Amino acid sequence: MDRLKGKVAIITGAAQGMGAAAARAFVSNGAKVIMTDIKAEKGAALAIELGEDAIFVDHDVGSSAGWKTVVEAAEKAYGPITTLINNAGIVGVVEGTIDLTEEDYHRISATNQTSVFLGMQAVLPSMLANGGGSIINNSSIAGMAAVVGCPNLAYVSSKFAVRGMTKHVAVEYGDKNIRVNSIHPGYVKTPMNEDALDEAGYEAVNVIPMRRFGEAYEVANLMIFLASDESSFITGAEHLIDGGMIAG
Ligand SMILES: NC(=O)c1ccc[n+]([C@@H]2O[C@H](COP(=O)([O-])OP(=O)(O)OC[C@H]3O[C@@H](n4cnc5c(N)ncnc54)[C@H](O)[C@@H]3O)[C@@H](O)[C@H]2O)c1
Repeated sequence: MDRLKGKVAIITGAAQGMGAAAARAFVSNGAKVIMTDIKAEKGAALAIELGEDAIFVDHDVGSSAGWKTVVEAAEKAYGPITTLINNAGIVGVVEGTIDLTEEDYHRISATNQTSVFLGMQAVLPSMLANGGGSIINNSSIAGMAAVVGCPNLAYVSSKFAVRGMTKHVAVEYGDKNIRVNSIHPGYVKTPMNEDALDEAGYEAVNVIPMRRFGEAYEVANLMIFLASDESSFITGAEHLIDGGMIAG
């Protein structure tokens, strides 16, 4: 399959979960992939498994200096960047608003929100110089609504912000052929939450019209579509992938 032939994609948080599923799916669809994560050993092992079409860079998405390194490594390895997937994210803590510390608020916001700004800022020059690109920002259903059971206020506010930044940059660079979309997964079984979902069990599944949790590869399929030229007139849009949860 070559739906992504010619694409050079940076994927953050690619050591596990949705990012790892995306890295696998992108390589098997013909893309060159720059995987980044703070879980260096795990990320590097997956890059080796994926072969010459993937490299791994040890990178904290909250660091602007780190973003410079990632962009340089990407261009050196594979040429101009066509695709950015801002995927890395954390829940941080499960805490009520009264008890959420300022430190945790800033830590969660830096990883989930500031990172998306820094990532888009870092790749835009490469995309502008090379005729466009596609940016996919991984928000959440928590960026659409404050659903019961959301872990904390900072997670929700950061995911709403990702949705807003997506629209801003889509409008700002639409005439430069740079497309920017947000995706909004519901409950997807990954290392982030599989224990919590197992524990919640039937109760959690029951609020999903499709009566099951999502799989990381299903989110990767949406990312492929938005990264490919098949979605060439889609920008500034939010894409729910939640088994119908928010529809109810
Ligand atoms: N799993 C779900 O149900 C769900 C639902 C909605 C949205 N999301 C979002 O999807 C994205 C991917 O989540 P996942 O479920 O695959 O989680 P995950 O925990 O399995 O994977 C996230 C990856 O991000 C990396 N990461 C964390 N902080 C980082 C940092 N500062 N710099 C670089 N990498 C960092 C982690 O090391 C990990 O490899 C996240 O943004 C998450 O908020 C997840």
